[in-house]
Amino acid sequence: MKIFIDTADLKEIRRAARAGLIDGVTTNPSLLAKVMGDADVRDYMKQITDAVNGPVSLEVLATSADSMVEQGRDLASIADNVVIKVPLTEDGLVATRQLRAHGIGVNVTLCFSPAQALLAAKAGATFISPFVGRLDDISHQGMELIAQIREIYDNYGFDTEILVASIRHPLHFVEAAMIGADIATVPPAVLWKFIQHPLTERGLEAFLSDWEKAQLQLAKTEEAKA
Ligand code: G3P
Repeated sequence: MKIFIDTADLKEIRRAARAGLIDGVTTNPSLLAKVMGDADVRDYMKQITDAVNGPVSLEVLATSADSMVEQGRDLASIADNVVIKVPLTEDGLVATRQLRAHGIGVNVTLCFSPAQALLAAKAGATFISPFVGRLDDISHQGMELIAQIREIYDNYGFDTEILVASIRHPLHFVEAAMIGADIATVPPAVLWKFIQHPLTERGLEAFLSDWEKAQLQLAKTEEAKA
């Protein structure tokens, strides 16, 4: 399963890329607004695309198909690895077909049902982004949606990739992998948690302290011999 980082924070993107952990980036207007300050938007987006060797999702703000296509084409001109994020609306599906016809990758976002995911695949979406955490928030099983989409896409051989979004904790990530999702997009705080395990930390401390004790013992024995 590929891992994308779900943030617009350049420091976190660069850190994760340096660690070799990520295959792409997803952003949305809320994430960009959080970190951009008064930076030039285009310049900031370009820096994100330069920071990772893989697709970077940039979202349109327009709501009509024509404007989405216009904005999408403009955003796609920032760098070769830009993928345009459009919402799963009627206009979004129209824009998806048109952007794909222009050879531009499309990530259809805000997906909350298997029927929506099927329509996005039929429209030629490169990625479908089902939001598991937000479904869990309203007492639905977010992960059930991922399993349903996996089955539907496999039934018909769609090559749209399932990009699990709104991941809130490591178990979401593990379940997505067990279902066979193609990609998980993970916020930095959750990504770093994947590495941590108390037994790893305790084990490492024990190895280092045992080694140190053995070295001290060796030094004492040598000293006694001299
Ligand atoms: O990128 C969109 C998605 O991952 C948002 O997650 O936590 O705001 O539901 P969240």
